Amino acid sequence: MQKPSPTLLAFGDIAYQTFSFPHDHMPTLHSTIARCARAAAALAGVVLLAGCDKINFWRMDGHQSTIVVEGPVAREQLDLFIITCWVSLVIFIVVGAVLAYATFKFRARSADDEHAEPPPQGHGNPLIELSLIVASVLALVVIAIPTMKGIWNTYDVPEAERKDAYEVTATGYQWWFKFEYKSETAMTDAKGGKTPLITANELVIPAGRAVRIHLRSFDVIHSFWVPKLGGKVDMIPNRANILYLKADKPGYFWGQCAEYCGDSHAVMRFRVIALDKKEFAEWLEQQAQLGRTVTPSIASTPAPRGQFAALRQFKENEAGITIAYDTEPLKAWRTKQDPEKNEDPALIAQGREVFKKNSCANCHTIRGHDAGGVTAPDLTHFGSRTTLAGGLLENDATQLRRWIHDPLAVKPGNKMHFGVGAMAGYVKKNDSGKGYTRNITLTADDEVALVAYLHSLK
Ligand code: CUA
Repeated sequence: MQKPSPTLLAFGDIAYQTFSFPHDHMPTLHSTIARCARAAAALAGVVLLAGCDKINFWRMDGHQSTIVVEGPVAREQLDLFIITCWVSLVIFIVVGAVLAYATFKFRARSADDEHAEPPPQGHGNPLIELSLIVASVLALVVIAIPTMKGIWNTYDVPEAERKDAYEVTATGYQWWFKFEYKSETAMTDAKGGKTPLITANELVIPAGRAVRIHLRSFDVIHSFWVPKLGGKVDMIPNRANILYLKADKPGYFWGQCAEYCGDSHAVMRFRVIALDKKEFAEWLEQQAQLGRTVTPSIASTPAPRGQFAALRQFKENEAGITIAYDTEPLKAWRTKQDPEKNEDPALIAQGREVFKKNSCANCHTIRGHDAGGVTAPDLTHFGSRTTLAGGLLENDATQLRRWIHDPLAVKPGNKMHFGVGAMAGYVKKNDSGKGYTRNITLTADDEVALVAYLHSLK
């Protein structure tokens, strides 16, 4: 059982003191009202806290917190929220006080009052009416000025920083994100051919520098939101929107599509990783290379791999991340940049064959590995990402196999089963509408080999 928080205990204490009073004390009307009010407040507090303790409500620093923010755009949006709260609180107190005063002053004091004439009704007082109008307009102006400023600043990088802004294009697909680094090129063949650098689902940016994100959509309307850094702006087909983001310092941030876009909208996620200048440059250099090739030293059959034999059974909606990654995501990300220690070159080579045989290259790109499909995520450096399936699962062997084994169980409606247009995909719905028929059949061995191959792509 979870330990109750100190705040919860304090509320419990108030509740206890409220209900236990000395017997020789004769309660008056006032003390009874006060006691009831205190009891109600304490009870409400206990109920609220008992529920919220579970979701760290009082820490308010969850992965997608808009209260504990780490960038200037999100900070401005938070300030706006606070200003609106204060204005609302003042209005609430003034209106509440007038209401309480009127209720108390004109209450029925005796049985005679029940049928008495109502007190004189006032209307047509120009001074009061004018003051109320002026006060309302003032309250709206106080909220409107920072609102306009906030909207303005979300939609583009401030003039002063625009020249130095880092430019990225983010495109929403059902249900994943593509990132194109507008000013960076990547090697596409061994002869040194170059195209713009493209990654998927994890956006790596320089910390402390303004980032200008050009928002596009491939299919329906999506929305780009990184709560701790700022947002959200829609990605609309055939429309060029721009979003300004900036991270104060290196960090790892959770992002989310914030516009309903179909079956798997809720699991259309991404990450933003902010790095210092040096580490960012190193990352760019690594990403610009061709997909890593692991060559088996001797032509041999893969080593025995009994440890992978069984596929774990997953419950529906089972979380796909470990605590180690959840608590120290940036550390986990850094670990991912290096090749895995116990690689099996023969198994990796076998996985590459599986990828080739099953036409995965029709949709996915792996630069340097004869795979150039553009409708699904670029996998050239897939092994260096912390997440897969649109940021839903942690990119470890167990979760990758879970995804490859049955993508529809993980992300309902995803295109891995249809491919593009009429192109044969991975699995397709039965004519009966129940269950799915696979176009591609992978054996357990194939799955294990494919996992090893994809994880070798650093
Ligand atoms: Cu994309 Cu919701």
